Amino acid sequence: MEYYWTHLLWILWSVMPGFHDCFNIDTRNHRIIKGPRQTQFGYTVQQHMAGGQKWLLVGAPLETNGQHQTGDVYKCPLSRRSGGPSCTKLNLGRISLTNVSERKDKMRLGMTLSSNPNDNSFVACGPLWSYECGSSYYSTGICSRVNASFKFSRSIAPAFQRCETYMDIVIVLDGSNSIYPWNEVQDFLINILRKFYVGPGQIQVGVLQYGEKVVSEFQLNDFRSVEDVVKAARKIGQRGGEETNTALGISVARSEAFKQGGRKGAKKVMIVITDGESHDSADLQQVIEDSEKDGIIRYAIAVSIAFLQYWGYYNRRGINPEAFLNEIKYIASDPDDKHFFNVTDEAALKDIVDALGERIFSLEGTSKNGTAFGLQMSQAGFSTHIVEDGILVGAVGAYDWNGAVLKETRQGKVIPPKSSYEQEFPEELKNHGAYLGYTVTSVVSARSGQLYIAGAPRFNHTGKVIIFTLKNTGELTILHSLKGEQIGSYYGSEIAPVDLDDDGVTDNLLVAAPMFFSAGWEKGKVYI
Ligand SMILES: *[C@@H]1O[C@H](CO)[C@@H](O)[C@H](O)[C@H]1NC(C)=O
Ligand SMILES: *[C@@H]1O[C@H](CO)[C@@H](O)[C@H](O)[C@H]1NC(C)=O
Ligand SMILES: *[C@@H]1O[C@H](CO)[C@@H](O)[C@H](O)[C@H]1NC(C)=O
Ligand SMILES: *[C@@H]1O[C@H](CO)[C@@H](O)[C@H](O)[C@H]1NC(C)=O
Ligand SMILES: *[C@@H]1O[C@H](CO)[C@@H](O)[C@H](O)[C@H]1NC(C)=O
Repeated sequence: MEYYWTHLLWILWSVMPGFHDCFNIDTRNHRIIKGPRQTQFGYTVQQHMAGGQKWLLVGAPLETNGQHQTGDVYKCPLSRRSGGPSCTKLNLGRISLTNVSERKDKMRLGMTLSSNPNDNSFVACGPLWSYECGSSYYSTGICSRVNASFKFSRSIAPAFQRCETYMDIVIVLDGSNSIYPWNEVQDFLINILRKFYVGPGQIQVGVLQYGEKVVSEFQLNDFRSVEDVVKAARKIGQRGGEETNTALGISVARSEAFKQGGRKGAKKVMIVITDGESHDSADLQQVIEDSEKDGIIRYAIAVSIAFLQYWGYYNRRGINPEAFLNEIKYIASDPDDKHFFNVTDEAALKDIVDALGERIFSLEGTSKNGTAFGLQMSQAGFSTHIVEDGILVGAVGAYDWNGAVLKETRQGKVIPPKSSYEQEFPEELKNHGAYLGYTVTSVVSARSGQLYIAGAPRFNHTGKVIIFTLKNTGELTILHSLKGEQIGSYYGSEIAPVDLDDDGVTDNLLVAAPMFFSAGWEKGKVYI
């Protein structure tokens, strides 16, 4: 029983907008607001003012929108005039981010709600919102800001980062007469294409075929799935040509293909596949320099003489293999051992496809720094708290579930470095999953002004609360910490500041340990 009272009280505390005032509960003139039970209607409730009217916002994190269980938020009028509450679903779960391969199913929108009394907007979060990056899904969480007219105004996703696979790839394919048999080359091309994570926010791919002339087979933004790209590649016929104008192919790729449908900020990758020395090698130096200036990373694949002999071809054109290999190495970005591939036999084809995929996806500044970043699974929006110049966002999954607190302001995201937490959350406890950011709030101290507070209910099994400042430069300073006393009590899973005399300065901080066990029962405990 006490346990339930604790919860009820916490719900009531958190319902209060802004600072926590004291109030009485009228148990006689209650109203019951009902909603669809299977949606967890009522998991969160939030009093809200908008359009000069009082509302209750109600979260329903298991609500469905179309195919997906996205979660949603209802608005319920509280004025007497309205003749009893009838709630309206706001359909926030239908909002989609473009340019990202989202996974909205089970994102739990409405699991947190924060009302902003200053502009009558509110923020609702779906901490399990995910998106696809390469072979992974990142659960960074997302929040929606809704304005005073209950219209979506923008997404808040401080942990969101572009995929490592945000790349524009142009394949420059030799289709001159000497390439034979074409179907082998085409299969090879298709195998390469199949390696690519094609989709919004990830890879786009275009193909140029060249011989004497250069023809665009398809452009970067023509297709949005690997199936469609492969289907188009199957239709590519050999265009032929007496000459192999590789420099021209590279030049057109740089000056046209990367511009037609190319995306700002996307990594540019060019893959040149050829079997022979070019007829326009005099122009190579210039086109390679230009490509280098444009930041295009070039891979070169020499479909070598030996390979072609294997397929029953012999050197009709009197190609000097050494000059050919030197040329193709020159085309490839440095170092050559990472960007140059020598196809010598059928077996090597498969290896090259794998190696090329791996090398492209481990490009510097992508996977290495990506994993070090540590916010991919952060579930930001597990808790939120509106402050003067922005919103604090709890991210329980950050840094291997140690957790973190992020902030979003009008000027952008504020992400404190991982090292800010190290003193209070030592590295040796990192496997425990402290869940910092399970709750976030703020207090006003007479001496120091506004201070931020966050709970980590699993810290060292007993729980911890930190009191800190956070500058918009990302500098986070922990001023003080409070520790739980009992294992598993979930100390810090709810925190409430109290201003008893309504002077704007916080008098008490209440910290809950709702699973505190005493006298044989899980009764819960509140610390003042
Ligand atoms: C999304 O893609 C469109 C079309 O390619 C582009 O105009 C827009 O700037 C992109 N938005 C973002 C946020 O990248
Ligand atoms: C809310 O957003 C809608 C759509 O953008 C806009 O028409 C409306 O004026 C906004 N309301 C307020 C109060 O800002
Ligand atoms: C490429 O393969 C050919 C044929 O096996 C071989 O002669 C040549 O040395 C290889 N070149 C490089 C740079 O690996
Ligand atoms: C990746 O990390 C290295 C070493 O920490 C750093 O020097 C480099 O600038 C980082 N690259 C990006 C793109 O952040
Ligand atoms: C974690 O808990 C153990 C056992 O109570 C204690 O000895 C240790 O000092 C704690 N570590 C930290 C960093 O609080």
